[in-house]
Amino acid sequence: MRIIIADHAGFCFGVKRAIDMAENNACGGRLITLGPLIHNRQETNRLGALGIRTCDGAKLPKPNGDEDTVIIRSHGVGPQVIKRLNEENWRIIDATCPYVARVQSLAQKAFQEDRQVIILGNKEHPEVKAIKEWTDNTAIVVASVKDLQDTKLTDRVTVLAQTTEKEKRFEEIVAFLREKVPKVEVFNTICKATKERQEAAAKLAGQVDVMIIVGGRHSSNTNKLWEICREKNPNSFLVEIPEEMDQVWFKDKYTVGMTAGASTPAWIIKEVVERMQDYADLQKENTVQTEEVNEEVREELREEEIVEEEESITEEANEQVGEEAVDETQKLQAEEDREEERQDISDIEEQLDFRNFQAGEIVNGTVVKVSSDEVLVDIGGKSEGIIPAGELSYRRVDPQEFVSVGQEISVEIVKESKEGNIILSHKLAMLGETLNMLEKAFENKEIIEASVIEVVKGGLLVDVGIRGFMPASQVDRKYVEDLSQFVGQKLRMKVLELDREKKKAVLSQKVVLEEEYQQKAEEIWDEIKEGETRKGIVRRLAGFGAFVDIGGIDGLLHISEMSWQRIETPSEVLNEGDEVEVLIIKVDREKKKLSLSLKELLKSPWDNALEKLSSGMVVPGKVKRLASFGAFIEVEPGVEGLAHISQLSVNRVNKVEDVLQAGQEVDVKILDIDPVKKRISLSLKDVATDKENAAMKSYLDHQEDKDSGVTIGDILRENNGEL
Ligand code: F3S
Repeated sequence: MRIIIADHAGFCFGVKRAIDMAENNACGGRLITLGPLIHNRQETNRLGALGIRTCDGAKLPKPNGDEDTVIIRSHGVGPQVIKRLNEENWRIIDATCPYVARVQSLAQKAFQEDRQVIILGNKEHPEVKAIKEWTDNTAIVVASVKDLQDTKLTDRVTVLAQTTEKEKRFEEIVAFLREKVPKVEVFNTICKATKERQEAAAKLAGQVDVMIIVGGRHSSNTNKLWEICREKNPNSFLVEIPEEMDQVWFKDKYTVGMTAGASTPAWIIKEVVERMQDYADLQKENTVQTEEVNEEVREELREEEIVEEEESITEEANEQVGEEAVDETQKLQAEEDREEERQDISDIEEQLDFRNFQAGEIVNGTVVKVSSDEVLVDIGGKSEGIIPAGELSYRRVDPQEFVSVGQEISVEIVKESKEGNIILSHKLAMLGETLNMLEKAFENKEIIEASVIEVVKGGLLVDVGIRGFMPASQVDRKYVEDLSQFVGQKLRMKVLELDREKKKAVLSQKVVLEEEYQQKAEEIWDEIKEGETRKGIVRRLAGFGAFVDIGGIDGLLHISEMSWQRIETPSEVLNEGDEVEVLIIKVDREKKKLSLSLKELLKSPWDNALEKLSSGMVVPGKVKRLASFGAFIEVEPGVEGLAHISQLSVNRVNKVEDVLQAGQEVDVKILDIDPVKKRISLSLKDVATDKENAAMKSYLDHQEDKDSGVTIGDILRENNGEL
């Protein structure tokens, strides 16, 4: 998967410069910014963590020992504010964007030359308010040609624009003024940064399989980027943070493009790219280093267009105000076909204000309709809003299963769509609550339950209201080969780490299992007694025995305790995973050692032998060992008896080996059984004598019956040659 970052993605020059200046001057919380530096919650929080406080101009305190430096954001301020700051002896860091500073300068000069200044823009926007102040508040601010209809105009007019204004609107204003006013001085002060970002994003969106737009949901320029990309590529997704991405978006995709709004910090962009690279690694397809790809794509883009040499920003900012005004009309004509223009935050806020709602506001509503891809919610004030399916939860859900008509639901106002619908988000509304819940669970080490969404590189993605990560090593007490078995499962877990700002949680099921295991183990140690029998599972085999889990603790079943017979390896008797019943033969609570026996629960060979054998019986046996005083002969499995040397033959025996060999099979007579000493006395001699006696008896019986015809030879044959 190739990851391609669009040119001009992320911070524009002016915002980056302001952030850099703030960071470079952050010194232990002495810095205050006049209004937020940037419309991005994560970045504002990050700056807050550096001790950079945001303050409304009206609430600005007097400089003091703790706070003595004020930073003017990229929107700039008017001369009155600067005067006040100087009078109060604030140290001032002026981060006004040079483009904005140029507009202020043009406005001031026009005012000083007695020209009527017309500013196209939003009169409530801080940038416009500040520009107007540079004309001693004489400038007329208009939002469209309509506002000029009844305006009394002088003969000499200078027209300027808010830097984020729409080209088309500016063009209309200029055309109107040229008709009405003899001397029109035109300065197209609309910044190119946004236009360039949008054009690069649109171009890239049309070239890739998937397009990711990174930025705040409340940022108008980010939403505009999303709209533009969606027109070129339906697989365009807006995310605020990397965790909002869904691996499914990238399945079987070869090229992924990425752009970011003007207020998206580089660290968020980097994290998004890193996560996409993780996905790419997982897919094992054409992972390309982002930087290399960027270069490659830039090359492609360069082939298709002539890149105009940009004048340096500083030079532009320092352009001599006295330069002749450039008639921009022709340039504006060239951009006629550009229908969709940037829409700034104030536009959205104005629209939402109209309905008494503010972007970011959380309200309770009632579900009035549910379809497969969205939920319609009555949010009061005769207004209804739409929750797109993707805004219900951080995991993919079916709206029809997730909510039902009539249900109360908490939603955050996101924006007003092009079609005039209020777009809502349930998952954002729940975010604060979710983060509080996670924070509480983290601090109190509480167990939470959550479902596994998918397997990602190095672990599992878990839905905990935000997308949590469970490293593979934290899934179970033991190594898990196949993590996919957990997908869709609800697991119990604890929060190991929580980053509120980045909305990241690291989770562990292992700690829950481990704690429960330990608790159970303690209970078992308290109650277990020698002589008890317990059921257990064979967890591991070793050369000297087996470890058996008896429900919380492992005991050792030594090889000698496995069988009454002699065995070479534990695997002759047991396999890992076998369920067995064992006898507790020793409990050492101090050393936490437990000795088990299996054979003690089995009938001993002696018990078997005693049931079967009795004195006087002749039984088959096998010579196991020879000794100088006799031979040990196995007469039952695991039961040996001794045939003394005097009992080996009717003849005198000097050496046992003259008569028997180990392994030889012989019939033996049981002379005696001592059950207490577990001894059996055997005799081969008696077997021979008995046979001899039997043959003799048979012969004598036949002698009495002369007519039987039995000869000595028959008797010998019958007795295997013995008489
Ligand atoms: Fe940014 Fe300055 Fe343009 S703040 S959008 S570079 S006017």
